[in-house]
Parts: sequence; structure tokens; C-alpha cells
Amino acid sequence: MPESSIEKRFSMISTEPLNSEANFAKDVHEGLSSKPKTLPSIYFYDYQGSLLFEEICRLPEYYLTRAESEILETYRDEIINHLEKDTQLVELGSGSSIKTQLIIEQFLDEYKKAHYSPIDISKKMLKNSSYSLLNRYSQLHITSVAAEYNEGLKHLNLENDKAKLIIWLGSSIGNFHPDESTEFVKQLSQQLEPQRDYCLIGFDLRKDRKILEQAYDDAEGITAQFNFNILTRINRDLGGQFDLHNFRHLARYNEDEGRVEMHLVSEQAQQVFIRQLNNHYQFETDETIHTENSYKFSQSQIDNLARQTGLYVHQRWFDSQNLFTLVLFRKV
Ligand code: AVI
Repeated sequence: MPESSIEKRFSMISTEPLNSEANFAKDVHEGLSSKPKTLPSIYFYDYQGSLLFEEICRLPEYYLTRAESEILETYRDEIINHLEKDTQLVELGSGSSIKTQLIIEQFLDEYKKAHYSPIDISKKMLKNSSYSLLNRYSQLHITSVAAEYNEGLKHLNLENDKAKLIIWLGSSIGNFHPDESTEFVKQLSQQLEPQRDYCLIGFDLRKDRKILEQAYDDAEGITAQFNFNILTRINRDLGGQFDLHNFRHLARYNEDEGRVEMHLVSEQAQQVFIRQLNNHYQFETDETIHTENSYKFSQSQIDNLARQTGLYVHQRWFDSQNLFTLVLFRKV
């Protein structure tokens, strides 16, 4: 089949405002005024933060990406065999789309053309990764959406007459509080047609504390940089005066909650001025800003999630070390 130009095979839907400065300012003020202090992890992902996350994915300690890629490499033909020919591949939080490439490639091998719709908050990342995929695969069409997940799904305006596979990899589901993820998967489930559509979600499994804490506190300090990026962003975008040397990165497994928490710990009593918020924020020694939760899952939690959201588990796959699972759901 002749190759058509990349421009003709690409479109981008952009929702406004994306992480607008006003939202950022409001969230920073609220988070730093609350006790304990928090900052929402979605603000890690400006372009620099997205690149740091890509680096994390290649770290020896961060087993999640390798385990999930191993599952995709080993079982992608089984996954694709479930799908109909014209299935639209929709991906939430696509990032660089490296792992999804395995699915796209298999789909193209089988059905010769594919329609992929990545949704991501970083417009620049979306454009770069889409162009690299379009360059590589001449029979691929991409409709990308620059938005947060739920907004993105609405804007994508999924055609009801078309089969779809909604892909949510990397255990990104773990960055939501369980109530929020259940609510969100319910919304996903409403987009699915029984007997036809699928949803493929990656879950990091519960495991030994040491493995988990190392994965979020690597020897090279890349995860620390990723964590600090949120302060760098406040300094740059809101005129913050954080001295990064006065904080340290902390990652700890909270076993009762089943989640790895990331914090930035104040090394000393200090106050930090943020110009655009016209406010000083007080920190005590060892007071932390809680920046991220990364929930880890048991099989029964995944089964419960399905039950609560009108889905059922169609098939599940594991990596050779049982660190991670990829679950294919259908609607009841
Ligand atoms: C994107 N998300 C699934 C990552 C995680 O493992 O929770 C983000 C991350 N935070 C620190 N390292 C990676």
C-alpha cells in the first residue's frame, strides 16, 4: 500500500486550559497550606518531568517498565487475537508510547492498518511520539488528544459503531486514590460495549518493601530529580524561592495503605516565599510535602475493582518474576 504523508495521518485535539497557571497556583497554595503538606503528582509532568520519567523507566531499580514490556512482548499476539480488525486503539497517558508500540506493531502485522488515539497531558511529548510512530509505520493513523484522561476521553468522542481497546499501562492507575480510580474505571466502563470492546490495564503487584523502596529511590538519583522537578516548576512558573538543597527526597512503602509514598522533606526550619502567590510558607525541620502515592495491587483488589465497575477479567498475564500483571477486561 502506498505511504500517505504524515500530516494526512495525524490530527491533534487540544483541550484548554491544560494545567493552566491559575490551576497550578491554586493547587500549590492549597497543598502547601494544608497539614500535612501535599502537591498533586500530575504537576511532575511538564516536558522536563516527562523526560525524567522516561529516564526512570530505564533504571535498573524501576522494574515496572521492564516487567510490563516483557508481558507485552511475550503475549502481544494473544492480546491482538482478541480484537476485531477495525479496533481503535486508545491509550491513556501515552508518554513516549514505547510499550504501546509493541501492540501497534502486532496489530499492523495482523490487520495491515491501525488507528491509534493517545491521550496525554504533555502536548510536546504527544507530538514527538506520534511523529516518530508515523514515520515508522506508514499504515498508521493517529488522532492524539492533549488533555487529562477524563477530559481526553470526552473530547475523543469515541465512535460507538467502532470496536475499541482502551489501554492504560505502567500502573498509572496506582497514582490515583482507590476511590478515584474506581470512579474513573466506572467511566471507562461506560465507554465499552459488551461482547465487543476491551480495556487493558497494567497493575504493579504488592511485593517486598525493599524492592519497592529501591524502585522509587534509585542509586543515580533520577527519581529524586523527578520529585524535585515539582519545586523547580514552582520556582520557574510561580516565582517560588525554594532552595532545593534544603530538601531531601524520600520514598517509603506504607504497607497498611499498600502504596509507595514520595515526599520532599524539609532539612531545616525555613520559610519559602512564592512571589505569584504573595505568600510565605513555613516548614518545620523534617516536615514533608507528600508529592505522590503509587498504589500496589493484590489479585483480589483487581477482582474487586472489576466487580465495582461493571467489568470482568477476561484474561491476565504476568511477567516471569510475578512482579507485574497486565489484565484484559470486558464489560459485563
Ligand atoms: C507514572 N507512574 C505510574 C509512576 C509510578 O511508578 O507511580 C510515576 C513514578 N514516580 C516515581 N517513579 C515513577
